[in-house]
Amino acid sequence: MKKVYVAMSADLIHPGHLNIIKQASKYGEVYVGILTDHAIASYKRLPYLNYEQRAEIVRALKGVHTVIPQETLDYRPNLLKLRPDYVVHGDDWREGVQRQTRQQVIQCLKEWGGELIEIPYTKGISSTQLNHALRELGTTPDIRRAALRRLLNARDLVRICEAHNGLSGLIVEHTKVETETGTKEFDGMWASSLTDSTSRGKPDIEAVDISSRLVGINDLLEVTTKPIIFDGDTGGRCEHFIYTVRTLERLGVSAVIIEDKIGLKRNSLFGVEANQKQDDIEHFCAKIEAGKKAQITDDFMIIARIESLILKAGQDDAIQRAKAYIASGCDGIMIHSKEQTPDEILDFCARYQKLEHKVPLVAVPTTYDAIYESELAEAGVNIVIYANQLLRSAYPAMVNTAKCILKHGRALEADADLMSVTEIINLIPKV
Ligand code: SPV
Ligand code: MG
Repeated sequence: MKKVYVAMSADLIHPGHLNIIKQASKYGEVYVGILTDHAIASYKRLPYLNYEQRAEIVRALKGVHTVIPQETLDYRPNLLKLRPDYVVHGDDWREGVQRQTRQQVIQCLKEWGGELIEIPYTKGISSTQLNHALRELGTTPDIRRAALRRLLNARDLVRICEAHNGLSGLIVEHTKVETETGTKEFDGMWASSLTDSTSRGKPDIEAVDISSRLVGINDLLEVTTKPIIFDGDTGGRCEHFIYTVRTLERLGVSAVIIEDKIGLKRNSLFGVEANQKQDDIEHFCAKIEAGKKAQITDDFMIIARIESLILKAGQDDAIQRAKAYIASGCDGIMIHSKEQTPDEILDFCARYQKLEHKVPLVAVPTTYDAIYESELAEAGVNIVIYANQLLRSAYPAMVNTAKCILKHGRALEADADLMSVTEIINLIPKV
């Protein structure tokens, strides 16, 4: 019996997939390589179903002989293992991001005289269309909450962007750019205390209470599907923090980050200029423990934020705290810095990598923004948060427009920088 290899994500099975398998089975025994979450996440959004669920479905399809994982977008590792007589694929990959993969498949098959068979793409149905339809149906708290841990397993670096209202949430949800390596987008949202407070005209001192911030979270939940990380400031008193944890978890938020400061909180980027005090290790550990005890699911994450570098307490203190917070059960560590260069963050990362017990590491490159994502990933960072850039771009644009109208006594001159009325009234489609 000849061997036929077919690779697919198989997230939303449609007649196009069935047709490929049917055609492939005419040539021999069909081995289906299911792309792992890691392989898919390397070029597009995480699939709705995890690898095991997708593999189980495909195993049950008529004409499938064996299902194996395909760990990379590149077919070659599996081809070299299986040495199939044929690879079957739709003819839609001759152009675009998959062109190179196709070329590699043809080259690789040549080694043992294998052949690529391309069958006409099934018209009228595509995973992209189905994805759009599903996106409109939305998500559930359970799926959304679990998405951050799935992303951490699937991606080298999870990319998060600040969203401070429904509209900026929509920007994080939908903005995409096409690159040579595939589509790039944000993986989730950061509910920043700085931008939440600033957009309400208040300072970032925990003056916007949890109830108000939850109204903002609800706006995000209504119009987006991506995971949310909540900036929990100091977390407040342990007795209060447990309620914050339960509420966020119930809503489908994936994680809360609490910072190890005590007393009146000031924004970290003031550094030692503001009178800010770091919490003592035992007290902060007790807060982490109380939060972990309060949560119901295994998915929700409590991330401990270390302010030692911000408050000039040094690397030893930062590492000592990381160890203690991890021992208390936190699910992630955020290390923060307000230096213009990434040196102290990279020093911390190097020492952190040597720890015996590690949890995912979060960095927020606001001041040291010349660093590339690839460099952060290389240093062992797992989550990068762009914590305030959307609001920082919106505010100057609004001030300029306000000044322009005042200066000219009419709005015409401001027009060139504005989106059109047609665009704004159609921006949010009716559902
Ligand atoms: C926030 O975005 O509110 C943060 C990050 O906590 S920072 O502003 O850098 O403190
Ligand atoms: Mg904050």
